[in-house]
Amino acid sequence: MNNKLGVDSFLWGVATSAFQLEGSPYADWTSWDSILDTKPHITNHYELYREDLKLLKDLGVNAYRFSIEWSRIQPRENIWDDEAIAHYQEIIDILNSNNIEPMITLHHFTHPLWFIKKYPWHEDASIGKFLVFAEKMASTLKGVRYWITFNEPYVLILAGYFEGCTPPGIRDISLGIRALKNILACHGKTYDLIHEKVAGSPMVSVAHNMAALAPWSRWNPLDKILAKVARHFYNHSLLDAFKTGILNVKFPFKEEICIAVPIRDKLDFFGVNYYTRIHMRFNPFKKMGIELRHRDIDGYGLTDMGWEIHPRGLERVLRHASELNVPLIITENGIATRDCQKKIKYMKRHVDVLERCIKEGFDVRGYFYWSLIDNYEWLQGLDARFGLYRVDFDTLERKPTNAAAYYSYLIKSRSSF
Ligand code: FCB
Repeated sequence: MNNKLGVDSFLWGVATSAFQLEGSPYADWTSWDSILDTKPHITNHYELYREDLKLLKDLGVNAYRFSIEWSRIQPRENIWDDEAIAHYQEIIDILNSNNIEPMITLHHFTHPLWFIKKYPWHEDASIGKFLVFAEKMASTLKGVRYWITFNEPYVLILAGYFEGCTPPGIRDISLGIRALKNILACHGKTYDLIHEKVAGSPMVSVAHNMAALAPWSRWNPLDKILAKVARHFYNHSLLDAFKTGILNVKFPFKEEICIAVPIRDKLDFFGVNYYTRIHMRFNPFKKMGIELRHRDIDGYGLTDMGWEIHPRGLERVLRHASELNVPLIITENGIATRDCQKKIKYMKRHVDVLERCIKEGFDVRGYFYWSLIDNYEWLQGLDARFGLYRVDFDTLERKPTNAAAYYSYLIKSRSSF
């Protein structure tokens, strides 16, 4: 395979995020979670990281995606915690010494509390504050080739600014669009910063959540329009912005928005997070006239979070993402279930689709299963079991599941990708 990424083989990995494994006393989500009281720090990965990194070796992965918890690095404005930086550097060093490619995420939903209080994303001052952090990371961390600037910027905006169910807890679409514009500006500048500061040829992207979005009823023109609008906003408007430098948003009954965003071609690969299909119905009694539902149409069942298992949707989103003409990496794909057989089937069916796509010529260079161990799942707390390793939240013991053994087997049997 002509490997433009310059790595020797397909990246088989697992993905995690810092806050979901280790919490942080200084993060905005911590005070948010005090209402839910689901203890994000419960898996205590911040202390047990050496043990957890050994699990990667046991699995046989050659890549690991994890995030740097910004609020640990800058617990207060203008204060750097050098020990926290050394901690993440040690993780990178352990990975490299085991031939596991580190892929780091600079922003995975959480913020230092001081940032979200004083400089929320809809304020232009947020850009400078994030860039100070990004520059410090790009100039200090050594041995990282793969960088994700932002995880799922659209999810952050939908939850934090449209729904208001996550920090900063605002319900205002125009502020949300302003926040998105600032986040994308940060991506563009961070892309340049990383290329300036990081030796070698760093690979930079975002991780974009893409879903299969379908009308509730194929016969209802309003449902069809809705699904089309949603697909354009949620899946495609970011791809278009990377191609053109223009963010174009059209919501029904609202004026079209066209904003210049400095991100044109600022991608070395494209990270796709894919989980599910969502059906959409026009319902005037719901917010923005939209009702969402997961339905078990393929007969593969729903996950413990009620998400539809729809492997074919992966092909659809990869087809769209291919329009960017950069290599693709599946930066997240996984299932919340306590049923190991279901987890195994989910993985197999998605990897089968991936294999078909690669045979068809899609330029996909990696697959990261979400997630390594059971962890804190945002608004769902601790019930959503995504891990290949089961965590006993009382004893903190990590136990391999059959799904872990299956993933190892999958990696060996498909290593020829
Ligand atoms: C993704 C998030 C990740 C995790 C999975 C289940 O959207 O990026 O943090 O919560 O969903």
